This record gives sequence, C-alpha cells and structure tokens, in this order.
Amino acid sequence: MSTWLSNAWYVAAWDREVDSRPLARTICGVPMMFYRKLDRGIVAMRDACPHRLLPLSMGLREGDSIRCRYHGLKLGPDGVAEEMPLRSEKANKGICAEVFAVVERYRFVWVWVGEKEKADPALIPDLWPCSAKGWRFDGGYFEIASDYRLAVDNLMDLTHETYVHTGSIGQPEILHAPIETFVKGEQVFVRRWMPGVEAPPFWAEALRKQGQVDRWQICQFMLPCAVIIDVGVAPVGAGATVEQHDQGVRGFVIDVMTPQDETSHHYFWGMARNFDIDDDGFTARFRQQQGGVFLQDKEVLEARQRAIEANPHMKLSAYNIDEGGTRARQIIARAIKVQRQQPETEGAAK
Ligand code: FES
Ligand SMILES: [Fe+2]
Repeated sequence: MSTWLSNAWYVAAWDREVDSRPLARTICGVPMMFYRKLDRGIVAMRDACPHRLLPLSMGLREGDSIRCRYHGLKLGPDGVAEEMPLRSEKANKGICAEVFAVVERYRFVWVWVGEKEKADPALIPDLWPCSAKGWRFDGGYFEIASDYRLAVDNLMDLTHETYVHTGSIGQPEILHAPIETFVKGEQVFVRRWMPGVEAPPFWAEALRKQGQVDRWQICQFMLPCAVIIDVGVAPVGAGATVEQHDQGVRGFVIDVMTPQDETSHHYFWGMARNFDIDDDGFTARFRQQQGGVFLQDKEVLEARQRAIEANPHMKLSAYNIDEGGTRARQIIARAIKVQRQQPETEGAAK
C-alpha cells in the first residue's frame, strides 16, 4: 500500500528540463521517461521497452518516435510499435509501451499516474502566481532521500527557520507571532499575521522603504502535495489585512513534492514575486540564495528519514507547532482511503 494518492497530478519536471532527449524519472514508483515531440508537445512513457525491458530513455529519437537501443523496436509517441526488430516482420500494433497523461502548466510538467480516464486537468492544484501576469517565477529541483510527507511537516511549520536556517531567513520574531491553523475543504492553512513590525532587510529593500510594516506568512497545503507560502509586507496603514494584502510587496514560496518511492521524493521549489519582475539579476541571485536555504532543509529531512528507519519503535510526536503538518497528513490519508474504497480503483493504487 502506497503512502501517496495515485489518482492525482504530480509534477514530473520543470518545463525546461524536458527536451528532445528523453529524461528518465521515477514518479510514484513508476519508471517514466519524458521527451518533446517536434511540435514541443510532451510524451510521457513507461521507461521500459516492451521487448526485453531496456529503459527506453536510453533509446534513439527518430522524428516523434523512440527506437530502443537494444534491438531496435520503434515506438510512436502513443507507445505503439511502428517497426519490429526484424524489419521484414510487420509491426504488431498490439505491442505497446504504457503512456501517461501529461500537461504543462505553471512552468511544470504534470503527469497522472493513476486511472487514465480520471486524468482531468482541472484537478491540477492552483499555483496561479507561477504564471500570472505581473508575477515572475523561477526556482530549482532537488532529489531528497526522504518520505515526501516529511517535507510537508517541514513546510507547514516555519518555526524550524530559526534553527535550521540560522543566519539566512531565521528570525526570532517568527517564534513569537501567534499562528492560526485551519482547514478549508482539502486545503490546510497556517497563518501568521505580524502587524506593525520593523521591515526585515530583504523586504525593506523590495518595498524601497524603511520603517514599520504589516507582515504575513501564510502556508497553504494542497493535494496531492504542494505547499505554497504567501509572504510579504505592506506599509502600516496601507490597509493590508490577513485576507487581502496586495498593497505592498508579495511573494509565494512554491514547493511541490512528488514521491519517487516510499523513502525519496522529487522537490521542485521556487519563488514567484510581484516586485522587480524584470530584474533578471535579482531572479538569479534569489534562486541561488533560496537553493542554499533549501539545501539546509534537505539535510534535515534526509537525517530524519535515517533516524526514523534506525528507531522503528519510535513514533513522531506532534506538538502545537505541528498542527498544520498533521492536518495535511490527515487529508492525504483520507484521500488515499477514499480512493481505495472506490471499487473501480482496485489494483490501481500501488
Ligand atoms: S529490448 Fe528493446 S528492442 Fe529488445
Ligand atoms: Fe526550511
């Protein structure tokens, strides 16, 4: 039984990672490969040749097709055989590699691993700041050797910033601001509203103004596994509220986790912002800086995974700060349970 939801869209790659050469990546335990056709559309196929299972990602591209590098079986972008190893043999259309539904949205490549007929693009989580007009989005990718749910715990609890990210984004005031956690449908929110605080240097610079600001941090969890964090400041008196705050400068920390297997995941991270959007230097510097911060999280998550495996008799404890992560895990667990109870899904969940 898997710890993830099968009938869901998962990010497989950044759009820029997929090109004409196949990219191999295991998504929710399924080895897949991705490539772009001549019209730039994306093919997602099981990364195993139907003949003797050599990974197709090692194959050779021919037009929109892929030719296996072992005995030369040629498959079209729909996965169906176009040429047999023995050219004198007629292509058997019954030979085919599994293909997966794939959609490009918000600068990411999303793939559906579950029952194909349920792959509705409307179910892709709403990451609007990643492609909205007036916003700039960029980021990176890490492979992390931990259960993807450890990343959810981490992102829904920003108190860790003080100790894990000392010297970068950690700030004692975060420990003192009260938090409010609530669930709305299948989403979890953890809100911190910090009215009338001194603008931290990063935000003062973005705002081009020193002095007192209202500051917010709002973590939002979405199925199957994204956490976006609405952060920013507005000058005191500008009318910003915890619900509505476009009066100052605003950013969204974007975190999307895709299980690779039970003990590792793909982490796609970035920042979407609505200030200095044409400043490429800022974008590049910020990406570098953010990558450095997230490497500190990677170290912690991987160490936690090792400790969990080394201490099988111990359970994770949940204190007040863990409420957001706990609720998000409950929503994942409930969605998996509901999916399992649907009779037609039997056998589809790993
Ligand atoms: S393994 Fe692919 S053609 Fe034989
Ligand atoms: Fe962190």
